[in-house]
Amino acid sequence: MTSTIATSDDPFLSGGYAPVDAERDDVALSVSGKLPDGLAGVYLRNGPNPMFAPKGRYHIFDGDGMLHGLTLDGEGGARYRNRWVRTDGLAAETRRGAAIYGGMANGEFPTPEETGGGPSMKNVANTNVVRHAGRILCLWEAGSPTEVTPALETVGLCDFGGAFSSPFTAHPKIDPRTGEMLAFGYSAIPPYLRYVAIDATGQVTKTIDLDLPAPVMMHDFAITDQHVVFLDAPAVFDFQAFSNGEPIISWKPENGTRIGVLSREGDGRDVVWIDTDPCYVFHFLNASTSADGRTVTVDACRLARMDIGLESEEGSADADAWLHRFTVDLTTRSCRYQQIAELPGDFPRVPAALEGLSQRYGYYASFSSGRPDGGMFDSVTKVDFTTSAAQTHVYGPDQIGGEAVFAADPNGRGEDAGWLLNFVTDQTSLTTDFVVLDAGTLDEVARVHLAQRVPFGFHGNWMPAA
Ligand SMILES: [Fe+2]
Repeated sequence: MTSTIATSDDPFLSGGYAPVDAERDDVALSVSGKLPDGLAGVYLRNGPNPMFAPKGRYHIFDGDGMLHGLTLDGEGGARYRNRWVRTDGLAAETRRGAAIYGGMANGEFPTPEETGGGPSMKNVANTNVVRHAGRILCLWEAGSPTEVTPALETVGLCDFGGAFSSPFTAHPKIDPRTGEMLAFGYSAIPPYLRYVAIDATGQVTKTIDLDLPAPVMMHDFAITDQHVVFLDAPAVFDFQAFSNGEPIISWKPENGTRIGVLSREGDGRDVVWIDTDPCYVFHFLNASTSADGRTVTVDACRLARMDIGLESEEGSADADAWLHRFTVDLTTRSCRYQQIAELPGDFPRVPAALEGLSQRYGYYASFSSGRPDGGMFDSVTKVDFTTSAAQTHVYGPDQIGGEAVFAADPNGRGEDAGWLLNFVTDQTSLTTDFVVLDAGTLDEVARVHLAQRVPFGFHGNWMPAA
């Protein structure tokens, strides 16, 4: 099956965003530089790649998930495989040979005749892909994860043995100490927020429903070794407005913004909510709890407001993110925050081994010009939280990257012993390279030249070979 979208005027369906139409298996790819010896595994990245021309206005969050896997053999060789996530909604559209579902910017629902027994809403499974307890899960925050095999063949929806069938964030956190996967889901109907803990064997061990004053879009959260941190920001669902053709989410700063801190050991009754200035966070870098348990440090890309392009095609200039550190004092129930790095950007990451623990270094996709408006991620910035120093690597003229994922050097020591992995696309030639940077120096060490462009997408992870 191939994408039916040949050309489009939609900026999110053309250029570097244009969907690709082939599912490929490319082996023995050409490499410039030298891939790291001993680095074996697969870098898997998810993103939207609509198979059918959209029904009405397209929003980038709506495209069918496609996985792009770059496998390294540890001996200098690389191969590539991409597959659509074959969701039930995509299967229903495939039977019809056309798009039948609306989306974020178009609240149309198909008739039962159109779905032919398929779901009334499409879970596009397009936002992230994680591996936990032997499962590879494609994530989309308004529904359950979709499991795929290591060969990227779709298995189906995962409800954890029937133990958790609520919406599941695209940004679960895996605790490197316990092997647990911690996650949450939000919903426009009560309970608005539900926390879930899944142990290292994949069993659900805890769910906690949390009260919120209003249903909000909560894209990410953070964990520490002791706490779970939520941001109740005023990106409020309004279905009444949506049914009248207005945006499904409205920014309501008058509702206030609160940081919630929940003990991982408790039953939810100990959750504390601490006010902060109105803001939004799409992505947290990391969080940690002080040794005395009184302070929680939260690093996140903070926006003054949230805008996902529903109110206007252009978005707004104050809807750009800068890396900040929030310091939450649990004793005084107060919060302060400060900007950490000069360059705007988002998609922050730390090494998997430091999830929930204090880190020295963090990495985020940045706008090297310092002017985010209308720009794209042309660089990665490394921040040293000890010295406040920041270092930026620009991929090259016309080169656009995404989230840089840290892969630890299996033989390395030190927090930044490893590499940063990314798909980087040349905006002129519309070709994609898999780029490997030394995380210590940010020097480029290798480029794998792909035979087919990888569309700009969302999140991925490095999954080391066993
Ligand atoms: Fe995200």
